[in-house]
Amino acid sequence: MKPIVILISGAGSNMTSIVQAAQQRRWAERLGAKVVAVVSNRPDAEGLAWARAQGIEGVVLDHKAFASREAFDAQLQTEIDCFEPSLVVLAGFMRILTSGFVQHYQGRLINIHPSLLPAFGGLNTHQRAIDIGCRFAGATVHQVTADLDHGPILAQAVVPVLPHDTAQSLAARVLTQEHLIYPQAIEAWLSKQPSAASNA
Ligand code: GAR
Repeated sequence: MKPIVILISGAGSNMTSIVQAAQQRRWAERLGAKVVAVVSNRPDAEGLAWARAQGIEGVVLDHKAFASREAFDAQLQTEIDCFEPSLVVLAGFMRILTSGFVQHYQGRLINIHPSLLPAFGGLNTHQRAIDIGCRFAGATVHQVTADLDHGPILAQAVVPVLPHDTAQSLAARVLTQEHLIYPQAIEAWLSKQPSAASNA
């Protein structure tokens, strides 16, 4: 079995779309893959309760309890490694990761970002796109490298920016696309793993 660990910080709607895709598209039987744990750095993340209700282990690791980014990431790595993941999925995980952490999961760490990378890395992507007059916006699934919001692109979706858009309305339009491309990109990634079929 190829264990998948998903990291969240809030609503977890991308996590939900991935778990639902795994169920509906029978990842366990077809691809030998299973979402085994959801880890949140915020104890009040809405997605945690939903994941637990699905029978998925929910782990809380509050970053505020750690003196440094390095200490938090080291413990995070320990928690994640308990599940021996084939893939670690950042789904609205709002933390900058240390290069040591990223290196540890090199090749099996992916992220979704709410912009058409390499444009608008970082925060407030939708407002920045509106302010500069972009006609199109979107989302990107990419492999994580030590360079924040860079790394090889696995999937992108484009949406129009409409004349009266606010950051909120644009974010909602982009999010519906995120929910489509993230599960698709993960399924494509799993399909390319050498022993996926034989592990089913
Ligand atoms: C999503 O829009 C995701 O792309 C974004 O946070 C939101 C999380 O929503 N991620 C980032 O900004 C990462 N830099 P969700 O918790 O409902 O999936």
